[in-house]
Amino acid sequence: MTSPTTSATPVVELVKAGFAYEDGPAVLSGVDFAVAEGRAIALLGRNGSGKTTLLRLLSGGLRRGSGSLLLDGAEVTYDRKGLTRLRTTVQLVVQDPDDQLFAASVGQDVSFGPMNLGLPEEEVRLRVREALEALDIVALEDRPTHLLSYGQRKRAAIAGAVAMRPRVLIMDEPTAGLDPHGQERLLDALARLRASGTTVVMATHDVDLALRWADEAAVLSPAGLRTGPVAELLGDDALLDAARLRRPWGTSVSRLLRAHGLLAPDAPEPRTPEELDAWVAAAPLATE
Ligand SMILES: Nc1ncnc2c1ncn2[C@@H]1O[C@H](COP(=O)(O)OP(=O)(O)OP(=O)(O)O)[C@@H](O)[C@H]1O
Ligand SMILES: [Mg+2]
Repeated sequence: MTSPTTSATPVVELVKAGFAYEDGPAVLSGVDFAVAEGRAIALLGRNGSGKTTLLRLLSGGLRRGSGSLLLDGAEVTYDRKGLTRLRTTVQLVVQDPDDQLFAASVGQDVSFGPMNLGLPEEEVRLRVREALEALDIVALEDRPTHLLSYGQRKRAAIAGAVAMRPRVLIMDEPTAGLDPHGQERLLDALARLRASGTTVVMATHDVDLALRWADEAAVLSPAGLRTGPVAELLGDDALLDAARLRRPWGTSVSRLLRAHGLLAPDAPEPRTPEELDAWVAAAPLATE
């Protein structure tokens, strides 16, 4: 096991997984990635490192070349039954909303998945309403998807996955292209989903977002995939260099505070300006 947090069986897990696109070199090899129930996991790595590939392997869109994909501890079979079981548990929101949205209106798009599950009409309506509310796009229900702004299309695509009520919601760079307000609203929506028990995995290039939002990080570098507590991995300079990631703002500030003897070595790091503010307010600093 690579993750220190998995005492219970992970919901979904890749074990020693390898993958190469047709006639291409290996994109991933020997990857262990366990998604434990209730976690918020940020997947980081440079362009072309294999984040999208890894997320598609986890959600069954691509079939692993070697190794195993386990769902609740049992090997996933890539037949109709196995894939249905996987896809009703794990939902992937792809990087580009235009690859996901296809129906004429937002409401039709979001209802497509639940309708396809054969759910009664009343249940479909309830789920669509719930998903639109979660993403704060109720007002867009009757709007044609092709007339929406990019950020609105992103939120509509996520609503489509949420309407499936997955246990694991996987998102490929969901905040890319969103304005700061849109990012905050998405994080609020994710917080509500997490509070209702949804496990969330997010690929992102934003180390500050990862530090603030995730409890676990998964970092792809030429050495492979490393998983662990987010503050620990994003505080590892060698790993950040290998993955070509910047050091998060909160980690830099905490180092400065520690270097000046202001923050105890074992004290938790302030990860955002708001947490720094709260720490300053509570810190026993001389303020006369
Ligand atoms: N359909 C495909 N056919 C062949 N090679 C592919 C295909 N999709 C991706 N690749 C290659 O696989 C590698 C990993 O790509 P992937 O899209 O998983 O990276 P990524 O980490 O998501 O990158 P980004 O940050 O740019 O989104 C890259 O070298 C890419 O060129
Ligand atoms: Mg990608």
